[in-house]
Amino acid sequence: MNISIFGLGYVGVVSAGCLASRGHKIIGVDINENKVDMLNKGISPIIEKDLPELLSQAKEKGLLSATTDTANAINSSEISLICVGTPSRANGSLNTKYIENVCEQIGDCLKLKKDAHILIFRSTMLPGTNRETIIPLLEKRSEKKEGKDFFVVFNPEFLREGTAVYDFNNPPKTVIGASTPSIADKVLKLYEGLPGPMIKTTLEVAEMVKYVDNNFHALKITFANEIGHICKKLGLDSHDVMNIFMQDTKLNISTYYLKPGFAFGGSCLPKDLRAINYMAKMLDLETPLLNSLMHSNNVQILATIKQIILYGKKKIGIAGFSFKAGTDDLRESPIIEVIETLLGKGYDLKLYDKSVSIAKLMGANKEYINNHIPHISSLMVDSLDVLLKDREVIIIGNNDKEFERLLSDSREDQIIYDLVRIGAISNARSNYQGICW
Ligand SMILES: NC(=O)c1ccc[n+]([C@@H]2O[C@H](COP(=O)([O-])OP(=O)(O)OC[C@H]3O[C@@H](n4cnc5c(N)ncnc54)[C@H](O)[C@@H]3O)[C@@H](O)[C@H]2O)c1
Repeated sequence: MNISIFGLGYVGVVSAGCLASRGHKIIGVDINENKVDMLNKGISPIIEKDLPELLSQAKEKGLLSATTDTANAINSSEISLICVGTPSRANGSLNTKYIENVCEQIGDCLKLKKDAHILIFRSTMLPGTNRETIIPLLEKRSEKKEGKDFFVVFNPEFLREGTAVYDFNNPPKTVIGASTPSIADKVLKLYEGLPGPMIKTTLEVAEMVKYVDNNFHALKITFANEIGHICKKLGLDSHDVMNIFMQDTKLNISTYYLKPGFAFGGSCLPKDLRAINYMAKMLDLETPLLNSLMHSNNVQILATIKQIILYGKKKIGIAGFSFKAGTDDLRESPIIEVIETLLGKGYDLKLYDKSVSIAKLMGANKEYINNHIPHISSLMVDSLDVLLKDREVIIIGNNDKEFERLLSDSREDQIIYDLVRIGAISNARSNYQGICW
């Protein structure tokens, strides 16, 4: 395939070398003449392991050239990769100036080109940028239609500098965001045979995935560093500690605890977080990430209360109020805080949870109830049908399978507010709302 690559920085040059090694004919484009000259000689403009060999081989085979001329590049290729920079502005916002410039140049060329063209954007961009900025700009300049005369695909790049060639050939995943499925399949062919899942999705999801990845990486590094400082002060080797932590692939390095939903709670997480934060303070350490977690969790609880108040209804049913389905533990169950606030504001509440039997509660659990919601037994009902009968809003508070039927059995005039993503929500009625989906 003939492929033009706009932007000969890390992403562009690595893509050029790797795609040429897969037999594609590459024409690189940059506004920087030095980079263009170097690539035309088969020399890498960046320092990156294995790249000089790939570029000189590509040059020898006649698979590599470069230009500053956009029209030449667009006319001699069927597909373009756009890899120009998307830096931060001083206020932190995303600067799409370079992307917009390149789109204007490409749009002008598409206007004169007869054949359809595929534009694969690899530069990191916020969700909505392709649909709201890039496509309108290209359509305006080309006077053509996306999805018919040319196609826009977002294909985030996951390479790490230093191991970029290895990462290109061993991606953790390949993500193609596109509006036209046949185009997504065509783009996937460029990566045929590479390991990892091949995922087709929308433009916006593909754009978001890249930010989720990088923000999560930043979160992991910061978390490990804060733990490292605490360990050092305690005379512990943080690498010993984290090596053990990482061996837990069930709860730690796993998919667990990564599904958006309601606040955390229970008898352990809040208490242990408070204890480690207090200890860090006593050790004269700053741990801003660990310190922020309780605050973020409280924001989630307050947002839930705010949403319920916004519904403007007074008859509220809570389906599931123990901290987890199948347990009767109510200690620091975050939904209890929601219940307390609503009661304080005069709401008419009915609660249902088949795992909680007030008569059988004992010890710390009983004490918690007596101190926090002593009148809870008078609010409890013994079946979900009681909530379905007269509640205006039903809140799904834990993952008890029984609550799935609320999605189909509720009336159109009853609001279902789901804090846990119960079951197959695609079947839910229009009165259904998820807490963060
Ligand atoms: N560097 C990485 O490790 C990495 C990894 C994944 C994603 N990304 C993303 O990929 C994008 C590119 O990153 P990079 O590090 O390769 O950038 P870079 O700054 O190294 O290179 C960008 C290149 O684009 C060129 N350019 C600017 N305007 C142009 C135009 N109108 N026409 C042609 N070329 C033009 C610049 O001269 C420069 O050579 C960014 O959005 C970045 O966030 C980078």
